[in-house]
Amino acid sequence: AESTLGAAAAQSGRYFGTAIASGRLSDSTYTSIAGREFNMVTAENEMKIDATEPQRGQFNFSSADRVYNWAVQNGKQVRGHTLAWHSQQPGWMQSLSGSALRQAMIDHINGVMAHYKGKIVQWDVVNEAFADGSSGARRDSNLQRSGNDWIEVAFRTARAADPSAKLCYNDYNVENWTWAKTQAMYNMVRDFKQRGVPIDCVGFQSHFNSGSPYNSNFRTTLQNFAALGVDVAITELDIQGAPASTYANVTNDCLAVSRCLGITVWGVRDSDSWRSEQTPLLFNNDGSKKAAYTAVLDALNGGASSEPPADGG
Ligand code: G3I
Repeated sequence: AESTLGAAAAQSGRYFGTAIASGRLSDSTYTSIAGREFNMVTAENEMKIDATEPQRGQFNFSSADRVYNWAVQNGKQVRGHTLAWHSQQPGWMQSLSGSALRQAMIDHINGVMAHYKGKIVQWDVVNEAFADGSSGARRDSNLQRSGNDWIEVAFRTARAADPSAKLCYNDYNVENWTWAKTQAMYNMVRDFKQRGVPIDCVGFQSHFNSGSPYNSNFRTTLQNFAALGVDVAITELDIQGAPASTYANVTNDCLAVSRCLGITVWGVRDSDSWRSEQTPLLFNNDGSKKAAYTAVLDALNGGASSEPPADGG
């Protein structure tokens, strides 16, 4: 049995990642846990549109490169997050619409992907394009109003910009197979595969909480998407209260699906979480391991206990 999350996941050819925030890289407790446990990194905010293109046509990769360089110098791979999104747009982009916005989106994808060409294993090309609730509709946004084809244009642009990266669509509240949002995303991916739109993977953010609880049909969801001919990944996992059994279930769901590439948790310690009051992560604020950590590690090790035998042998 392996003794870290990344090594344990690697036994089945998968990875175990975390979101890294550039502002925390000077915290040695944070970097020692992250360096030890994880072998995939997602920049929590640093590769988003407002960070990388704060003024139109003027790209800034200083924070993004801090995260990227830390990851690579510590032997980790990097997921890119994210190229086209309604949120965290810089002011100049928020005020664009129509064909001008469409061109700006294309230019943004080309600019960021050129900087990281050949260096990013998976890109979240488009993030959170579907509405919550029962409609199954696209989310309203300036991008959506630029034309329903904005998503496929983003994917075609991304494929040309860096043919070596896996191109993912990423969303939340799409883990429960019965939800309308899940079905809408499924229909889009099926349509893209049928029409040859270049999509390689679907990211399930997996922010589970009382309003969006884990359901055991998540495994069905992952299997059904994989059957369309795309890889799947768990991209931003956190679970309100961090129940060990739910963390184990999610881990086993990924392990049960051969096209599940790996799992990323959305932060290191509870105090690093965007929802720290929900204590949803694998490490306590003091850096100690929570019960959920052991449950995940044991699952990755094939169900074996990671505790040393009581007799020492
Ligand atoms: O850096 C500034 C700081 O200078 C300022 O003092 C402070 C005051 O509000 O804000 C800081 O920026 C915040 C940033 O996180 C860094 O902490 C932003 O306000 C805040 O909006 C931003 O939140 C991020 C959020 O995305 C924004 O949409 C979270 O860190 C990040 O975890 C979260 O990540 C998203 C994924 O990208 C997509 N899926 C959902 C997930 C959770 O919301």
